[in-house]
Amino acid sequence: MSDTQAKISPGFSHEKIETNNFLMIVLILLVIAIGGLVEIVPLFFQKSTTQPVDGVKPYTAVQLVGRDVYIREGCYNCHSQMIRPFRAETLRYGHYSVAGEFVYDHPFQWGSKRTGPDLHRVGGKYSDEWHRIHLNNPRDVVPESNMPAYPWLEKTAVDSSVAAPRMNALRKVGVPYTDEEIQGAAEQLKGKTEMDALVAYLQVMGRALK
Ligand code: HEC
Repeated sequence: MSDTQAKISPGFSHEKIETNNFLMIVLILLVIAIGGLVEIVPLFFQKSTTQPVDGVKPYTAVQLVGRDVYIREGCYNCHSQMIRPFRAETLRYGHYSVAGEFVYDHPFQWGSKRTGPDLHRVGGKYSDEWHRIHLNNPRDVVPESNMPAYPWLEKTAVDSSVAAPRMNALRKVGVPYTDEEIQGAAEQLKGKTEMDALVAYLQVMGRALK
């Protein structure tokens, strides 16, 4: 250590840290851990990340089952559900996504792969009929599309008993379903196909934010 350094920090030598690999690693981990905690912990308590934005409602039984079909079919492999706050994105898709819109999504479907367009604000963009034709065979409405066809969805009936236990489970993690909603789930799903459910889910996506 030079004389000047010794004068700046009397009694303490950085050399000890810089020449001791183990000590260096431990201190780096400590610094990263503190930095991480400072960034992450507040997110669990901020209103903007824990409270639903006005207008966000828990999914109905039909929408919830449609969401399960979305996950089962792997739509998230090609579609994200998160519009970033950049001009190119908001011009194309609409208002950027905010955390409070996903409070009832367990697990959220943000995704990162965009072989197809982002779907977060697709709700209301097309008619139900357009979605049916598109899901049945995308080439019928978008000739150049390379999205797979999902023709079995309109032939597969939804098992009406699946929603109630899921709604119960979601209630345990904070989704405010009422007893009546859970009891009425099977009735709502009667006679619905997986296509009906998936379209219902697509049509509600991203519409709560005004
Ligand atoms: C292999 C990748 C791939 C998969 C998997 C996929 N898509 Fe697509 N999707 C695309 C592409 C590419 C487009 C753009 C062309 C088109 O509209 O068909 C698209 C377009 C769409 C659109 C129209 C979006 C808009 O704004 O015009 C919707 C809605 C959609 N997909 C829903 C789905 C759903 C629901 C699933 C799962 C059942 C799914 N996609 C699975 C690639 C995919």
